[in-house]
Amino acid sequence: MSIKILGIETSCDDSSMSVLEDGKILSNVIYSQKIHEKYGGVVPEWASRKHVEAIVPLFHETLERASSNLDQFNAIAVTQGPGLIGSLMVGIGFAKGLSLSTGLPLITVNHLEAHVISLLIDEPRPSFPFICLTVSGGHTQLLIVRGFNDMELIGSTIDDAAGEAFDKTGKLLGLPYPAGPHMDKLAAQGKPVFTFPISNLPEYNFSFSGIKTSVLYFLKKKLEEDPYFISKHLNDICASIQHSIIEMLLIKVKKLSDETGITQIGIAGGVSANSGLRNKLNELSVKLKWDVYYPQLQYCTDNAAMIAYVAYHKFLQKDFATADFEAKARFL
Ligand code: KG4
Ligand code: ZN
Repeated sequence: MSIKILGIETSCDDSSMSVLEDGKILSNVIYSQKIHEKYGGVVPEWASRKHVEAIVPLFHETLERASSNLDQFNAIAVTQGPGLIGSLMVGIGFAKGLSLSTGLPLITVNHLEAHVISLLIDEPRPSFPFICLTVSGGHTQLLIVRGFNDMELIGSTIDDAAGEAFDKTGKLLGLPYPAGPHMDKLAAQGKPVFTFPISNLPEYNFSFSGIKTSVLYFLKKKLEEDPYFISKHLNDICASIQHSIIEMLLIKVKKLSDETGITQIGIAGGVSANSGLRNKLNELSVKLKWDVYYPQLQYCTDNAAMIAYVAYHKFLQKDFATADFEAKARFL
């Protein structure tokens, strides 16, 4: 018997659904909400409303792209948290409704665990144990992954996430939200000639609030001297900010690899799309004999394929949820 699972992800500002069959992704559809761009950040109330608008057309498109009918499915998987409560509730409500009407079992998935497991969707895959750095707009985590259900959180951010550091400093430069991909492109044409602080907390935690403040004061001073400073030096400023963020992340990965001897390294989450980070990691992998892994781009940012993939393994273990589960804003 083949196993078919519908994955649903609505934890933040992307509505996504995916169909998986026997561990293979047949479709992964993502509706990104544009409305937040004009506010320069995610507005939770808008996020929930846009999920409500998207969810039914998204469901039909996802099934159609996978040439699937609802009566072929074995389970419905949904993100339980962490995330915005109003957003999570849209996906969860839809999943519970489908389950009630079809009798299919429900599987709940932790969004952060799913980002880690996104590294295993395609070949080449890291083997256990591997170090995972999850870097997204909401989270920055360093983990040792020993198995599907065996992840040890080693460090995380004490303030902003790495993606937020890109987005908030990019906003100061007048870049559109989310600024990360824009900064990536501009940085590729610049040089890191300006110096911003590289915070290095004891042990394995990260802090990104310092760079935001430092960029703010740096720009204030430079703009007083020359009102066109940003437009004249935009590429170099972006390259310098990106350089600092990458250093802060990789110092910890290197420390953990040195200390544990683990040389299988995976990078997940939206910021793993950053080309500067990938270049630097590729350099390190040659120097330090690391094997470095990234998910496909469509599995880096928020997506339901990673939810369905975790759910497939939970299905094999008969790890089902009862219908009374609730959304969890925090879920470590
Ligand atoms: O994983 P994700 O889609 O959503 C969250 O769970 O947060 O990550 C979104 C974050 C945003 O902060 C965005 O600016 C950042 O990932 N991002 C990037 C790049 N692409 C996305 N940051 C730097 N360089 C990129 N190429
Ligand atoms: Zn995410």
